[in-house]
Amino acid sequence: TRHLLGIKDITEEDIQLIFQTADNFKDVLNRPIKKVPSLRDITVANVFFENSTRTRLSFELAEKRLSADVVNFSSSSSSVKKGETLLDTVNNILAMKVDMVVMRHASPGAPHFLSKHVKANIINAGDGTHEHPTQALLDAFSIREKLGDVAGKKVAIMGDILHSRVALSNIFCLKKLGAEVMVCGPITLIPKFIGELGVKVEYDVKKALEWCDVANVLRIQLERQQIKYFPSLREYSIYYGINKQLLDTLNKEIVIMHPGPINRGVELNSDVADSDHSIILGQVENGVAIRMAVLYLLAGVKEV
Ligand code: CP
Repeated sequence: TRHLLGIKDITEEDIQLIFQTADNFKDVLNRPIKKVPSLRDITVANVFFENSTRTRLSFELAEKRLSADVVNFSSSSSSVKKGETLLDTVNNILAMKVDMVVMRHASPGAPHFLSKHVKANIINAGDGTHEHPTQALLDAFSIREKLGDVAGKKVAIMGDILHSRVALSNIFCLKKLGAEVMVCGPITLIPKFIGELGVKVEYDVKKALEWCDVANVLRIQLERQQIKYFPSLREYSIYYGINKQLLDTLNKEIVIMHPGPINRGVELNSDVADSDHSIILGQVENGVAIRMAVLYLLAGVKEV
């Protein structure tokens, strides 16, 4: 495939190949000299129509570690503000001889649309409420690193499932790798179709924590809510917030994950986010190796 648009479109074998390639790049990133020449002479544009800290910096670092030439585009400081369309914007960037485009956009399907109209490789860095494939890959890679394997593990995805592209990509990825998956949150934030994806649904946070090996905790995405949903942030923190006191009631250790950004004191308290249970910064570290692997495999270059 020339693009990475979503986890739904790729196979378990594709995911395992990305993981094996990321293992090699993680070794490279632990060396004093972290740079390899694999993407020399390849130019990558990071085109972001939505805000980002982790994904944008992680892709840029991955590209630079692979020796690619990198240009960054942010819609808020661009001619999109003067009314230029997505296709015109990207075609103008491609006219400057860009080979690969990493794109984040608020509209579900925007990278799929682009992939049908331009020659470059397209990597989806998050499209609205739809998919965030590299986040799911780095999440599953981090579970594999922490627990040895993803197959057979019980993973609970907690929070605002309705507005979360991370949830959907994680469900596709974890199911392809043989994990058992549960979603947990208020009924108002769990979409009706979710059962069709072969996941368990639980509305009680304590029961979900008792069931799982790994809790992947998500943020309430206020910016995507068209109407004001129950619960409010305060109500959410009371009924669904995860804190040390709650984890101490479990008779086992579980792994805590979060894609970031964290709303501390809402979905996750600092006494959990910063504890030994948490692999949150490990996820961020793994993001660079995963993105190097995706860029490398899509570029089709031979030598590492
Ligand atoms: N996890 C994630 O996508 O974070 P950013 O929005 O900061 O990129």
